[in-house]
Amino acid sequence: MTDCQGDAATSPMELYEKLTAQGDLVRTLKSTKADKAEIDAAVQLLLKLKVDYKQAAGQDYKAGCPPSENSVTSENGLPADNDDNAGDEVNPWNVSTNNAKGVDYDKLIVRFGSSKIDQGLVDRIEKVTGQTPHHFLRRGIFFSHRDMHQVLDTYEKNKPFFLYTGRGPSSQAMHVGHLIPFIFTKWLQSVFDIPLVVQLTDDEKYLWKDLTLEQCHQFARENAKDIIACGFDINKTFIFSDLDYMGASPQFYRNVVKIQKHVTFNQVKGIFGFTDSDCIGKISFPAIQAAPSFSNSFPHIFGDKKDIQCLIPCAIDQDPYFRMTRDVAPRIGYPKPALLHSTFFPALQGAQTKMSASDANSSIFLTDTAKQIKNKINKYAFSGGKDTIEEHRKFGGNVDVDVSFMYLTFFLEDDQKLEKIREDYTSGALPTGELKKILIETLQPIIAEHQARRKEITDETVEKFMTPRPLNFNQ
Ligand code: TRP
Repeated sequence: MTDCQGDAATSPMELYEKLTAQGDLVRTLKSTKADKAEIDAAVQLLLKLKVDYKQAAGQDYKAGCPPSENSVTSENGLPADNDDNAGDEVNPWNVSTNNAKGVDYDKLIVRFGSSKIDQGLVDRIEKVTGQTPHHFLRRGIFFSHRDMHQVLDTYEKNKPFFLYTGRGPSSQAMHVGHLIPFIFTKWLQSVFDIPLVVQLTDDEKYLWKDLTLEQCHQFARENAKDIIACGFDINKTFIFSDLDYMGASPQFYRNVVKIQKHVTFNQVKGIFGFTDSDCIGKISFPAIQAAPSFSNSFPHIFGDKKDIQCLIPCAIDQDPYFRMTRDVAPRIGYPKPALLHSTFFPALQGAQTKMSASDANSSIFLTDTAKQIKNKINKYAFSGGKDTIEEHRKFGGNVDVDVSFMYLTFFLEDDQKLEKIREDYTSGALPTGELKKILIETLQPIIAEHQARRKEITDETVEKFMTPRPLNFNQ
């Protein structure tokens, strides 16, 4: 931050004009496929201008609305500027865009006020941990953060921190997209050697879906098996169902109540879009998702320590919960949780929506057989290739909209192989059928290995992970 001086006297109107010009520049750079570093720099400046503007004008920037007419916009994913991504909707209940390339994540960073995971941060993670950064970090699948530098400072000072993530158990059927945050969290746990708490929000799914309490509770245990199969350390991981743990832990409930006292109905309406006809369970639920961010919610792990830093890896659609959490934290005497945000895992039909368990044809489930995986990819995976082989050879394919290629960025670890596939597909040397074949052969063993690990997990093992108990934790 060296460019702050001299800005103090800038008026809201001047900032508004600068912002509009900077927005145009970012769009031009993107449409002309400018150098990535140049786009990143322009987006960073755009973000800074938006923050300055909010400070100066007391309201969020909105294209086409100069400061005097501007009304405060909520951050719940409502449409913003007018371009390909104008209709992007990103909130805990819906993710959609009209753009086949998917959601514009740079714009989301600006809209949510988070920070980009840039090369500098990836390099620092490598330096601090002495490990090659996970390919989700190298490839921008985890693309945004809040306060990650502070977490690394903590780690460098040998001070403790812990991980928190979760899952809403809405069905038995988990798909490959659900694994992304857990695969990454497992990597973080190994690299930093720290405790992890996993919240299974069976209460949330009961409130939002047409399911019974017992169904949700049962799904939580089933999903726990898939989570455990990602390889978490039993001595460092506590998985809990809200329906069980809320009643069993006075400290957890005390934190829920503290949070509830410090957030108004107006605030949650603004953040989550609740209306007067939503049941009161929904309205108070965000406090329950916030509570695990605070270490004294888990006395069996952290004793009465209330100041242990929390780091939350999650998909970006969960950010509204944690914006709220970070807002209340200092007011109730707790540190703000840090965050690492991932992009969405696209549906087979295209990146306009994320993979959804309620649409069987959009998803590859963790229970699918090798044959089902093959058939679904061949039949449904949206292709960025041309209609005929001749045209494809001549003009090449488009990896930016090709779902098979996108999935390979998630699951093919070898950077060189991936780069070669990108080049060959773009040039037309690699036809769609072959690309799909590579994806099928990459995914089949990954799913088969997951199924084998899951089969080994007994009810006793699940019971142990889900029992409140001390964890190995070096203070
Ligand atoms: N609300 C999330 C879902 O529906 C579950 C969840 C609870 C979660 N706590 C979390 C996700 C923390 C990420 C991080 O899936």
